[in-house]
Amino acid sequence: MRAHPAGPLHADVVADHASVARPTSADELNRLSPAVWPTGAHRNADGALEIGGVDVRDAVTAYGSPLFLFDEDDLRSRARRYRTAYVDAGARLVYYAAKAFLSTTVARWVTEEGLGIDVASGGELAVALRAGVPGDRLLMHGNNKSMAEIEAAVAAGVGRIVIDSYEDIVRIADAAGRAGVVQPVLVRVTLGVEAHTHEFIATAHEDQKFGLSVASGAAEEAVRRIAKLPSLDLMGLHSHIGSQIFDAAGFQVAAARVVTVAQRIWDQQGIEIEELNLGGGMGIAYLESDDPLDVPDMALQIGDIVGKECGAAGIPMPALAFEPGRAIVGPAAVTVYEVGTVKPVDLDRGAVRAYVSVDGGMSDNIRTALYDAEYTVTLASRASSADPVLCRVVGKHCESGDIVVRDAWLPADISPGDLLAVAATGAYCRSMASNYNYLPRPAVVSARAGELAVVLRRETIDDLLQLDPGA
Ligand code: LLP
Repeated sequence: MRAHPAGPLHADVVADHASVARPTSADELNRLSPAVWPTGAHRNADGALEIGGVDVRDAVTAYGSPLFLFDEDDLRSRARRYRTAYVDAGARLVYYAAKAFLSTTVARWVTEEGLGIDVASGGELAVALRAGVPGDRLLMHGNNKSMAEIEAAVAAGVGRIVIDSYEDIVRIADAAGRAGVVQPVLVRVTLGVEAHTHEFIATAHEDQKFGLSVASGAAEEAVRRIAKLPSLDLMGLHSHIGSQIFDAAGFQVAAARVVTVAQRIWDQQGIEIEELNLGGGMGIAYLESDDPLDVPDMALQIGDIVGKECGAAGIPMPALAFEPGRAIVGPAAVTVYEVGTVKPVDLDRGAVRAYVSVDGGMSDNIRTALYDAEYTVTLASRASSADPVLCRVVGKHCESGDIVVRDAWLPADISPGDLLAVAATGAYCRSMASNYNYLPRPAVVSARAGELAVVLRRETIDDLLQLDPGA
């Protein structure tokens, strides 16, 4: 959404440089839209941002900057609400997709809220187990699970392992056979559905690495092979069409197509598909103008479609399962940064952009560089009555693509020492963080009722030096 900016510059000059409209007043600049900020985020009497009853200045004094700050109540209530919605729509279990963000604290919170956990590596499995999550509440993914990861999953009694290749079938059957157990599995199928999202995060079209293709017959061949192996128990099918999806059509088509596959397996092999796991992918708002799908409504629509299609196909309605990640944790956290430098740069036709450098960057949020992701940022340590200036919030790394927020309007008096907060960074920021330029990864803390708790402590340079055996 673009509007005509007010102010000294001609509208089209600024519009050429900004993807977001210029706020028309200081009030608008200071406003925290509930569409992107955690529930209950507000400015206190000092004008500073408060999350979970904690002033972000106090959080930074206690734990340093940059800082990921989770609103525990926001995360828990979202987990609870979405779980209920999916269960009402026919889900047997809703798995939180741990790749979005994982720590023992968050594993415990989502488990307490009745969710299972989808893990995608031995590392994620180890965290979930350390948090005390029962094996039967876990599901393991991976297009190249190692034998050690498979053995660890089987030993933990993981409730579902999702088969993603013919090699998986042999390896999981072997591990389960050696352990003397029968391992429940799902077959991940690719349905040829193009989700309308960034190419790198769309996963159910044919030309990509995940799943077994329905069009080529690989998915049905996998079912045939699994049925012959006594150490495997085929529970059903899995489909995940992509991530950050705003368009209901992709989910609807996938739900209908996967039922057709289930029907063919029933007709041709006499095998009942008891469970359909339809993955995650529900998008969230990063900008106020984003218009994400309503999760409960979407869940009901999917349940309805599967019910109708099964009725028409003459097969029993399978239990459903879902794997939301971003929709649960994404909106629940913000990243707080400290401003270090402010550099006005002349653009064309008299326009100026201020490059506002913060003390993190692409090492704690790679999404802007990787997907052209857009974010909402606000001055968090105070409110300001200054006019808005066009800014780009950049990190401290040695490359010009190190951008946190490409286009942002911040008050003209933005200065070194100010704190900025970027909204909706709970998913795929800390979990995709790196140590580029030997930056230690930020701490993650949670706030609730005015109290802070450490979720992940800040890395130190000593932590990083310890990896190096030395000269
Ligand atoms: N299930 C499967 C099999 C997945 O591959 C994913 C995400 C999910 C569930 C959870 O999707 P969600 O509900 O969070 O959209 N790094 C990217 C997203 C990659 C998603 C990978 N798979 C990003 O930052 O946008």
